[in-house]
Amino acid sequence: MKQSQILIKSGHVINYNGSHDVDILIEGNKIRLIGQGLNFPGAHVIDASGKYVIPGGIDTHVHFALPTFAGQTADDFLTGSHAALWGGTTSVIDFVTPLHGQSLVDAYLERRAQADSALVNVFLHVSPVEWTDSTAEQMQTLVKDYGVRSFKVYMAYKKSIGIDDQTLIKVMETAKQLDALVISHCENDEIIEYLRDKFYSQGKVEPLYHPSSRPDDAEAEAINRLSLYAKVLDVSVYAVHVSTEQGINIIRQRQKQGVKFFAETCPQYLTFTDEVYNAPFEQAAKYVMSPPLRKEHDRQALWEALSDGTVSTIGTDHCSFTNAQKAMGKDDFRKIPNGAGGVEHRLEILYTHGVASGRITMQQFVQLTSFNAANIFRIKGKGEIKQGYDADIVVWDPEARRVVSVENHKMAADNNIYEGMEVIGQADTVILGGKIVKDKGQLFV
Ligand code: URP
Ligand code: ZN
Repeated sequence: MKQSQILIKSGHVINYNGSHDVDILIEGNKIRLIGQGLNFPGAHVIDASGKYVIPGGIDTHVHFALPTFAGQTADDFLTGSHAALWGGTTSVIDFVTPLHGQSLVDAYLERRAQADSALVNVFLHVSPVEWTDSTAEQMQTLVKDYGVRSFKVYMAYKKSIGIDDQTLIKVMETAKQLDALVISHCENDEIIEYLRDKFYSQGKVEPLYHPSSRPDDAEAEAINRLSLYAKVLDVSVYAVHVSTEQGINIIRQRQKQGVKFFAETCPQYLTFTDEVYNAPFEQAAKYVMSPPLRKEHDRQALWEALSDGTVSTIGTDHCSFTNAQKAMGKDDFRKIPNGAGGVEHRLEILYTHGVASGRITMQQFVQLTSFNAANIFRIKGKGEIKQGYDADIVVWDPEARRVVSVENHKMAADNNIYEGMEVIGQADTVILGGKIVKDKGQLFV
């Protein structure tokens, strides 16, 4: 819906550092004016009384159109971003994962072109999957010429995209010189690969053996190793999808020592425990993701870490597969494609189980869903409702209630890990770059 001026009236505007009852004038793609009692004849007025007005969400971790051994993930950039907007997320950060031998820059340009079909702002983390004579130079080109801010490394998956520690250290040193951030999937690959094969050879083939083969110690060990390198080399790091109490305790301790260690967790680790794996194949396979869902004490520790600031961001690790794709692992849990969808539900899950349950404040909600991501990944003009900033804005209805269902979700997969969950709050109106893209239950894209 194209309007030259939009006036959001009477909303309760929440920023990371405070809240105000003010009106917002949007002109073009920017926030032009913020103040009380604004009136602009001719402007399209959105009545936000009784609602929160918050910065558009930034999901720090999505995998749209990811090629895997089970085929491409269910959501591509179009369907994934459609679902993101529906839920109040206006920016996502996806990944560039080159083939061995492919230049990081070529892989980046390919992925960038693929992301053109997205309906939201797309930023990209880039993964060095090996170290060659030109890796440092390619990283420099990406930072200087293409504005890349973050390099993702996998401490797991060493048989494919994971790297050894010598490579990790070189990536960290190079990123430091370029003032970029190293973000890491932290799991100890050696023990995981050993356990996966051991269970399978013992005839333990059900989804239940997925969490058993990826113990919390494996995550904690890798987080500890990363934190040690970060401390010794004085490099900033960020652990994606932290899922364990042990991991949180290590990160908290390192942060107290002055190590610049940022952490992300995901809605699924805040919501479920590993009990979901005690179910028939189709039900359990939906929850097969890495790292796996954990114990109740881990879930509680993650909420505590959101509340005390140890964890800065919520990314969904959206990586959706259809039931048919998941069924590839019917007789071998190692062949169940890892991942689940969630980009549509990030804000409502965090609002329901965080704000409405009294675990976090509305300001923390904004910090966790947009502001911290914009700061950590230096996404200019986003994450705040501020004059001159991009008009990516969500009018949030705190009273709305609904039940999540695969029957009406926007994501492409024919399953939903949140199926049947009652959620509170919803993105009533979504404005992206100054255009109303969702209003009164309708998308205009
Ligand atoms: O199971 C997951 N999370 N799949 C996506 C890839 C990754 O490890 O982040
Ligand atoms: Zn991921």
